[in-house]
Amino acid sequence: MTYGGREASLSRLDFPALQPRGHGPAPAYLDGPGGSQVPASVIEAMRDVYATCNVNTHGNFPPSREIDRRMTQAREVVAAFLGAADGSCISFGQNMTTLNFSLSSAIARSLAPGDEILITQLDHEANRGPWLRLREQGAVIKEVRLLPGGVLDPDDMAEKITPRTKLLALGASSNALGTVNDLAFARRLTRAVGALLVVDAVHYAPHFPVDVQALDVDFLLCSAYKFYGPHVGVLYSAPGALDRLATDRLSTQDSHAPYRIETGTLNHAAIAGVRAAIEYLAHWGRGLNLRERILDAMAGISAYEHSLAAYFYGAAAALPGVHIWGPDFSTRSRAPTVSITLDSRTPAEAASALGERGICVWDGNFYAARAVEILGLAERGGLLRTGVSLYSTQEELDRLLEGLAAMAL
Ligand SMILES: Cc1ncc(COP(=O)(O)O)c(C=O)c1O
Repeated sequence: MTYGGREASLSRLDFPALQPRGHGPAPAYLDGPGGSQVPASVIEAMRDVYATCNVNTHGNFPPSREIDRRMTQAREVVAAFLGAADGSCISFGQNMTTLNFSLSSAIARSLAPGDEILITQLDHEANRGPWLRLREQGAVIKEVRLLPGGVLDPDDMAEKITPRTKLLALGASSNALGTVNDLAFARRLTRAVGALLVVDAVHYAPHFPVDVQALDVDFLLCSAYKFYGPHVGVLYSAPGALDRLATDRLSTQDSHAPYRIETGTLNHAAIAGVRAAIEYLAHWGRGLNLRERILDAMAGISAYEHSLAAYFYGAAAALPGVHIWGPDFSTRSRAPTVSITLDSRTPAEAASALGERGICVWDGNFYAARAVEILGLAERGGLLRTGVSLYSTQEELDRLLEGLAAMAL
């Protein structure tokens, strides 16, 4: 199987953590929805900051000018990754959760008691908790219903968006079930009532090309450690959107986007790593500029991951005592993340038995706690989740299937 015209398994050579250790193979990292491994170029970009320009920004001396330059470049590269107009739309933070709390605090200052916010039963807590706490100041929080098949109920969403709705917080893709949500539909509904659309693309961005301008979102968040970078959160704000918000910030801080929501000194080395991660993805694509290469690469990676995950989905479904949760792979609108339960073991028991075989998969609710509760799985230890990344191979999935078959007996 290939992407970018090259054999996909070649990508493994780029990741130090994937190299064989001793006599055995490297662990099979099928835990991508929890966090991905990083290529050597990302490690090198971070090392180089510490080695050459580990100083603060905005100084009138060469290393400081250099770190300013790298920060500006990083914003431009992330803008290309997300299809944003330019780097002024890209803010950085500690992680997605922290940025979303900052965003919700700022938006809260424009709300009146009785204003409505719509969240979903499918979303990760990071796109629920920051909005749920606004109940304390009189906001009315409603939830879009999750259907048993693992998709959100579109009629329920349409019904719950009213003229009082000020914001819809919606995941682009579920980190628990791999569902891809209909963002265009959500945008039409929110536009009709003048509500903001805040999209959590943490699970989506590693697997699909993103185009914030085509989606016409107000805010979109993602997290670089899910797309082969270090632990840095990213916030996209539509032009002008951040400047309208009363963010928490020091009087000494630059009050314009993208700085307006960035508190304190950022992790410059890690942000250089974010840029390197996106450039790494882009090198798997072809095109005349960075955006074209990113789009081409993400289309190829997406198709590769989809075919591997569909293979795993079909083979796992055929195992006795294995139940699969979430939508099937009949459409391309499906993230390569497959969650199951087993009759013979709890998810934690199964993950730990697979761990003994060198297979890394997650168990539990993965902070998509409400979805797991709605599906009736909370008391049963949640789900066992397999994620396919660009470096995953069919051989690794076969090892996992062998392990599952041994437990299913
Ligand atoms: C879908 C989704 N949203 C949000 C988050 C939170 O991201 P962060 O760890 O950057 O706060 C995660 C993390 O697993 C996630 O999977």
